[in-house]
Amino acid sequence: MNGRGRLLPIAAAIGFVGIFLFWILYYGRTPETPQSIFEAAGPVARMQLNLFWWIFWAATIVFIVVELAFVYALFHFRRRSGDPLPAQTHGNMPLEIGWTIAPAIILAIIAVPTVSVLWKVLTLPNEGVRLEVEAVAHQWWWEFNYPSLGIKTANEMHIPAGTVAVIKLESKDVIHSFWIPKLGGKLDMIPGQHNVMWLQGDEPGVYYGQCAEFCGEGHALMRFRAIVDTKEDFDKWTALQKQPAGAPTTGAAAAGRDIFMGKGACAGCHTVRGTDARGPVGPDLTHIGSRLTIAAGIMDNTHDNLAKWIADPEGLKPGNLMGTVITKGKFSSDELNGLASYLGSLK
Ligand code: CUA
Repeated sequence: MNGRGRLLPIAAAIGFVGIFLFWILYYGRTPETPQSIFEAAGPVARMQLNLFWWIFWAATIVFIVVELAFVYALFHFRRRSGDPLPAQTHGNMPLEIGWTIAPAIILAIIAVPTVSVLWKVLTLPNEGVRLEVEAVAHQWWWEFNYPSLGIKTANEMHIPAGTVAVIKLESKDVIHSFWIPKLGGKLDMIPGQHNVMWLQGDEPGVYYGQCAEFCGEGHALMRFRAIVDTKEDFDKWTALQKQPAGAPTTGAAAAGRDIFMGKGACAGCHTVRGTDARGPVGPDLTHIGSRLTIAAGIMDNTHDNLAKWIADPEGLKPGNLMGTVITKGKFSSDELNGLASYLGSLK
């Protein structure tokens, strides 16, 4: 092959890698994406993002320097016919020292900020208002308890803006991982071990949470919402959550309640405070009507989606426990309408 023939595949490879990197960065850093880490909305996520950029640029500089040296060497020291064997550098002391020290310096440039951020993220701040939240992972949904407020809810974690949320993580079955890309994470949720992390949301908003450790077939469908409220909204939410469930006000909702407590056997797994439903297995549904999503963040909380979910939980989240009890065809469309009306009324 002549020189130009050899250059072509190299140029093509560089072009391909370049386009690929550009594509990843361009789409990955779009802040509008709900799970983009590039729009940090709290101090923990910001520290993690800054660290990411620090390491990214350090790695980019190393990449460029190494590639330039490599390409230069490739062409400048190319073997030409009649060339003698090049000078051998084995045992060259200055070179040996050089390529031992240079990586050590680069590693230090990356390691010092990394350990410092790790320390800050894992050390609970002493100052400021603190709110304690217990996050308990289940296959595949989330339980949120607020011990100081006496609140128990599921799949939506409310915290007031500007307040440090100290989150105690645990798991009821396998290892999960707690992650709210725009607020911070990830930390493993391990059965029998209580990991603790802290988060803070700067501004009110709804942030996506996602389990970040493969925990079975429903892993990708194990989502939640972190809702950062104004102080007033948080107090309102707290007051609402403390209330027992209201009584149904429509005929459909009343019929739905009867199925929920009776034929449906829903009450065996779910709790609706203020009623006979005291099941400890599934999510607490006392105020499910006030939530944004259902089935651990996979669908908007609408009447139709509730009916769809109850009609076929296995089809929507394969492998989940509810699907073993509620099989497709168990309820008539009237019954589904009633159940969805009842749950929707639990504001
Ligand atoms: Cu829980 Cu993945």
